[in-house]
Amino acid sequence: MHLHKFEKIWLVFGIAALVLFLSVVGVSAFHQGHTPSGGHMRVDPEKVRETAPFNQTGLRQKEDGTYEVVMIAQAFGYDPGKIQVPAGEQVTFTATSEDVVHSFSIVGTNVNMMVVPGQVNHKAHTFDEPGTYLVVCNEYCGSGHHFMSTEVEVVEK
Ligand code: CUA
Repeated sequence: MHLHKFEKIWLVFGIAALVLFLSVVGVSAFHQGHTPSGGHMRVDPEKVRETAPFNQTGLRQKEDGTYEVVMIAQAFGYDPGKIQVPAGEQVTFTATSEDVVHSFSIVGTNVNMMVVPGQVNHKAHTFDEPGTYLVVCNEYCGSGHHFMSTEVEVVEK
């Protein structure tokens, strides 16, 4: 088989680019330990409401003084339905799902996590400004997916 010179150059370039990009992914996954968030804590999705901390959803203050919001996602909403958190304090959102994969994404922040049945996910955030923040589900979860939203109300402490 005869390959034109340009075809050879392009093949070498393509293979080199593939090797480079796979190496970047490999190094970040295995050497730097980047993995999908969550998955370190598990919960039986059929017993979510009997399992701590999900037996008591909502805001609580932790022993170290920071705050935690425990949430359960379900088709097609979040429990608790209304979330109020203090401004200027670190708030960790801890979430799991009772049914299918949802997400918990606070618009305008870095909080954007998948909520997977059987897994417990965390994401910490400090809201500097009081206000109302929209939360949406951005994993397609069924016929009511586009109605699945809630709000985080950030209030002055
Ligand atoms: Cu829940 Cu989409």
